[in-house]
Amino acid sequence: MTATYLYCEYKPGLEGIPAAKSGISYVDGKQGILEYRGIRIEELAAKSSFLETAYLLIWDKLPTKEELTEFETDILYHRRIKYRIRDMMKCFPETGHPMDALQTSAAALGLFYSRRALDNPDYIRQAVVRLLAKIPTMIAAFHQMREGNDPIQPNDELDYASNFLYMLTERKPHPLAAKIFDVCLTLHAEHTINASTFSAMVTASTLTDPYAVVASAVGTLAGPLHGGANEEVLLMLEEIGSVENVRPFIEKCVANKQKIMGFGHRVYKVKDPRATILQNLAEQLFEEMGHDDYYDLALELEKVVEEQLGSKGIYPNVDFYSGLVYRKLGIPTDLFTPIFAIARVAGWLAHWKEQLGVNRIFRPTQIYTGVHNAPYIPIAER
Ligand code: CMC
Repeated sequence: MTATYLYCEYKPGLEGIPAAKSGISYVDGKQGILEYRGIRIEELAAKSSFLETAYLLIWDKLPTKEELTEFETDILYHRRIKYRIRDMMKCFPETGHPMDALQTSAAALGLFYSRRALDNPDYIRQAVVRLLAKIPTMIAAFHQMREGNDPIQPNDELDYASNFLYMLTERKPHPLAAKIFDVCLTLHAEHTINASTFSAMVTASTLTDPYAVVASAVGTLAGPLHGGANEEVLLMLEEIGSVENVRPFIEKCVANKQKIMGFGHRVYKVKDPRATILQNLAEQLFEEMGHDDYYDLALELEKVVEEQLGSKGIYPNVDFYSGLVYRKLGIPTDLFTPIFAIARVAGWLAHWKEQLGVNRIFRPTQIYTGVHNAPYIPIAER
């Protein structure tokens, strides 16, 4: 499936083709290393918070205490959404997927904040604050409204992670649940040029507004080969049902060349470091809040997949254990991918800002495989 074209080889899926220079994150897929701005993900997961990590990604420095407080306060102040956005969301079908609701609402923000000043640092900062602040509120509002409830207003006493869990349930979350949820956001915040980030960069390169950039990335994240895999993992565990069924299920998938959700990665050929951290977080949650039988299934699944596909470099990716954590936190399965989006907004915005600094519109080429000088056949003769 490769062909030589001018000076380079055609690679389906652009595998291994550099599409940009970036200082935001780094992945070593052979050693299982992930760094944000040079800092190892394990260190950020243990010591940072999601908002501090977002600041680091976007502004390329760890904030001082004052800078972080100001950033967190700005975000807290902008969490509410306009009643017109809520009214628009009320018209969405309650059976619709929350990722579609999110994509539509993120794009709608562009209607309300239409001034565009891409060369103004204040504008950039305001767009960053608005998107990070409002996306969790929009997801929670859609969830409440599809259940027939009024949206729950953000609670100013709660931090970013606690407030999102609160808006889903109207209960203040257990501190461990909030802490672990915040770490999950940090783990999902950025991951070099993956499909949704590339989508964000292509959209950004046209110099459109940041709400369009994020809406386009949300649409890309929704697919089952990308962010949608976390939801599919839980559906798969549900289908497997018991530990005894794991082996026959995997053998059938392998025989039919069917992809096993939550496994495999374009870059990692070892276990994704984020999967290792998430597995530890899941275990902490089970210890505090009770065991989940799905974890036994997941462990067996990892063992059997490694046995059968480890030689091809197929190991758990970030989506494999995140679903188990979210399930234990009582989050509905179809909100798993929107939660991925809450986190990845940080990475998308970092790439948006980086792209603006060196912008040249993305316009790749193609290898034409069609015919030339084809005759136009009149409709009556076709
Ligand atoms: N289960 C079984 N076999 C697999 C899997 C899997 N999950 N992933 C890759 N393979 C096999 C594939 O069949 C192929 O085998 P062969 O060479 O014999 O034909 C080989 O590995 C290479 O696969 P590929 O599809 O060419 O690899 P890719 O780099 O294009 O795809 C991927 C990467 C993530 C799309 C793929 O591994 C996959 O579909 N995984 C399942 C979906 C998933 O978990 N996605 C989440 C990805 S991580 C987070 C994110 O990006 O959002």
